[in-house]
Amino acid sequence: MTKVSWEHLRANQVRASLIGSLERMARRSVDLYLVHAPDAKVPLAETMGALEALWKEGRVGAIGVSNFSVEELEEAARHLSEAKIVVNQLRYNLLMREDVEPVQEYCRSHGILVEAYSPFARGILNGRYLDGKRVPREVRDVARRLFEPDLLPELLARGRALQELASDSKVPVSSIALHWIRKMGAAPVFGASRPEQVDSNLAAWSVRPPDRVLDRADRIARGERA
Ligand SMILES: NC(=O)c1ccc[n+]([C@@H]2O[C@H](COP(=O)([O-])OP(=O)(O)OC[C@H]3O[C@@H](n4cnc5c(N)ncnc54)[C@H](OP(=O)(O)O)[C@@H]3O)[C@@H](O)[C@H]2O)c1
Repeated sequence: MTKVSWEHLRANQVRASLIGSLERMARRSVDLYLVHAPDAKVPLAETMGALEALWKEGRVGAIGVSNFSVEELEEAARHLSEAKIVVNQLRYNLLMREDVEPVQEYCRSHGILVEAYSPFARGILNGRYLDGKRVPREVRDVARRLFEPDLLPELLARGRALQELASDSKVPVSSIALHWIRKMGAAPVFGASRPEQVDSNLAAWSVRPPDRVLDRADRIARGERA
């Protein structure tokens, strides 16, 4: 899989980005090519036309997008004649989801897989920062873009309640985070900055919390108190 930046959505750039990626990966084709985000300055007709041409040439096995709204998905689909959009990558996790829920619903009903990026809310759903004292600026910024600044304490309070649920249920909170996404019909794409985090996240994926725990987590993350 590879992506084209939202800054390179002109037809020649879509092609050149792919060729550059293929050369770096020493491959002839990729399974999935994603548009990182829409760019209001470039018509989707141009971008999607270029993607479909690459798909017809067999350089791209499937076409995907990221951070697309329902309107953008519908418009993008109108500019494809044979190919389909198979993936929409969205920021989607237990704590940050209200704004993309309509998109997730649309994708579910149109056979588009949601790949959930930031599944751990940048570490909060690994149980980090919950005392609120040392939340790094980067994590605060992610929260700020999606929430009003004064909602960060609430976000952390919900994180602490999820951590308590995890301890009571004897499962890692990260297992709850990943399997809630699976239960919602999406596929988590986690980040990791150290090999131990990859190991720990794969171990978390191998623990499947019961549905009643995931349902309880869903209510807690929406702000329901005990
Ligand atoms: N399409 C898009 O617009 C878009 C945007 C953003 C990301 N993405 C993609 O989605 C992927 C995941 O996004 P993300 O990095 O925001 O997701 P995330 O999984 O929510 O957060 C990853 C961060 O959480 C912390 N973490 C992960 N595992 C941990 C563990 N086991 N224990 C403690 N801390 C842990 C690490 O923070 P520290 O590094 O601080 O330790 C790590 O960098 C990215 O790699 C990227 O490919 C796509």
